[in-house]
Amino acid sequence: TTVLVLNGPNLGRLGKRQPEIYGTTTHAELVGLCVQWGHELGLDVQVRQTNHEGRLLDWLNEAADFAVPVVLNAAAWTHYSLALFDACAQLTAPLVEVHISDPKARPEEFRHTSVVEPHALTTIAGRGVEGYRDALAALAAALS
Ligand code: DQA
Repeated sequence: TTVLVLNGPNLGRLGKRQPEIYGTTTHAELVGLCVQWGHELGLDVQVRQTNHEGRLLDWLNEAADFAVPVVLNAAAWTHYSLALFDACAQLTAPLVEVHISDPKARPEEFRHTSVVEPHALTTIAGRGVEGYRDALAALAAALS
């Protein structure tokens, strides 16, 4: 089964960006880890990252067209994008929300809401990049 791991804005700078919050694993390393973790779970993982909201919406529309399961870290869009809410609402295959940090435990109020959560099978947060492994495992379990 092919699954998509979609990463939103600023996650391309993983490893350099606020490492005290997001850790030192780079996005390129995360791609390798997700592919490997997926392989162990029998999933064919494709990882994508964008800083452009419309591109993420296009990918989600494509996932809707082909009923592709998705692991989504929409980063800051998580907290305010109504277009993202609508894009997630139409998905028919399982969607798992992931965050490296735990947004609900952070001081900024704006991080405490998620437009993805209502549509997600489960939300994995605060486990660092390992959370992607848990997210892929949750997808694999839902698909089996
Ligand atoms: C994040 C949490 C968001 O609040 C933040 O805007 C991000 C990353 C995370 O993975 O912890 O960019 O989604």
